[in-house]
Amino acid sequence: MQSVYQDLLGLRWSDTVGDFFVFLRCNSDHHAATSMASTKYQGMHHVANEMRDPNHLIALLDHLAEHGHRLHWGPGRHGPGHNLFTYHRDPDGNVVELFTQIDDVHDEAKGYGEPRPGQEEYPMGPKTREVDLATVNQWGPIDPPSLDH
Ligand SMILES: [Fe+2]
Repeated sequence: MQSVYQDLLGLRWSDTVGDFFVFLRCNSDHHAATSMASTKYQGMHHVANEMRDPNHLIALLDHLAEHGHRLHWGPGRHGPGHNLFTYHRDPDGNVVELFTQIDDVHDEAKGYGEPRPGQEEYPMGPKTREVDLATVNQWGPIDPPSLDH
């Protein structure tokens, strides 16, 4: 799957988790598409909507809560991309992510961008990450189904 997206569609590699979860970019955002090998699941896991900044995310969370839509998971900060995240379910049960502060890979020649909150090192280029809690959520709890693949 990774080679199809990279060789056929021109996406670039940003990160891999273990040997089963790859993050690809089509612009300067750390990832626009991810693909996970799974023996249990098929299809799309979630779609994600970018918020302008943390205040925009907070405003939308307040708005959702006022209308009875509570968090499914988060807030947290992912390892790959270091984006702040929250996860929700829409009325049909689909998973929707809201995120902001994703890593910005603005220099393709270098393959990395400026330092961003949450980064473990600089420069931070593509790498293969361990399968651990900090990869999924640097801040805290994990959504158990997130590790079930
Ligand atoms: Fe996501």
